[in-house]
Amino acid sequence: MRRTIHALALVLAAAWMPTTLQAAAPPAPPVAAADIAAGKSLFDRWCAECHAPGHGHPGTQQLERLRGAKLAELESRPDLTAALIRYVVRNGQNAMPAYRPSEISDAGLEQISRYLGRNQPPAKPRRR
Ligand code: HEC
Repeated sequence: MRRTIHALALVLAAAWMPTTLQAAAPPAPPVAAADIAAGKSLFDRWCAECHAPGHGHPGTQQLERLRGAKLAELESRPDLTAALIRYVVRNGQNAMPAYRPSEISDAGLEQISRYLGRNQPPAKPRRR
């Protein structure tokens, strides 16, 4: 009887193990197209004046000086993380003013970050 129980336990463990070990990290939630569109219109309202492509836009010009032509235009940068965008928008950076939540809400800032972060490669799954 004991043996049978042991054998049964082994069989159960064998059946259980592979699926647990192979369990993949949950896929990142897809960024909703609506959020991207909302982020784009907030960007146009609050940021484009300084960060639209081309000269005559102080943000774009200053970033070209600081980071080079490839990283001058926020909308085509592949390296902007949501954390960096949040930090700069809430605190300002040199000539760039800070924005309060009464101007750009947290939800709005999140949408701007998603819009600007859409070119980022997907994050690597975390190891536990
Ligand atoms: C009045 C002009 C102006 C406005 C409006 C503006 N910015 Fe800026 N922004 C700048 C300037 C100038 C810089 C470069 C600052 C420096 O010298 O480091 C900058 C830098 C940044 C950076 C840092 C990039 C880097 O590589 O360091 C981010 C991110 C950024 N802006 C995001 C935004 C977002 C998002 C908005 C809209 C919510 C916005 N900015 C609105 C002028 C502006």
